Amino acid sequence: MYAVCAAAVAWPAAKFFGAPLSAPPVGPIRDRAVKLSVLTPGVPKLVPITGESVDAWTRHPAKTVGRAWVLRTSPAEVDPAEAEVKAFSSVCPHAGCQVSGALRSAEDAQVEALHCPCHGAVFALDGDALPMPGGGPNPSPRGLDSLNCELVEDAGGDWWVEIEYKRFRPGVAERIEA
Ligand code: FES
Repeated sequence: MYAVCAAAVAWPAAKFFGAPLSAPPVGPIRDRAVKLSVLTPGVPKLVPITGESVDAWTRHPAKTVGRAWVLRTSPAEVDPAEAEVKAFSSVCPHAGCQVSGALRSAEDAQVEALHCPCHGAVFALDGDALPMPGGGPNPSPRGLDSLNCELVEDAGGDWWVEIEYKRFRPGVAERIEA
């Protein structure tokens, strides 16, 4: 009898306190992250991704859940419906820091590479992991994780980059969804 009563109390308590650990992941997330018109061709832009998230026991319907680098690869003259863009997760595949820096050339200050401030990993604008500027291996085991994206037109005629945001496991060479 005592065992039954203990279980009756313990199970709801364990469920309550264990909820954050067992909460289902929210995603994948699709977000109209940035207007095409604000992207300069060839210049990557770091944009927030807004979506539903779980914080302990609370669901937040619209919150910044991540960031992505977005690159407009086609020239500005190209019709928006035909424009080409790429998107990459800004989560560093080494240990999960934010790849938040842009390295510019000394000659014309053009952005040449992306940079992680934690351990110095550098990435080409197409996401590939580059050799370290001072020599030695890049700490990142793989390039930046590309994200599916497409251009969508809203009712007002503006074109947006809609990104399917996912997380991937850091620290491994293979691209594995987290
Ligand atoms: S987490 Fe980015 S280089 Fe280590």
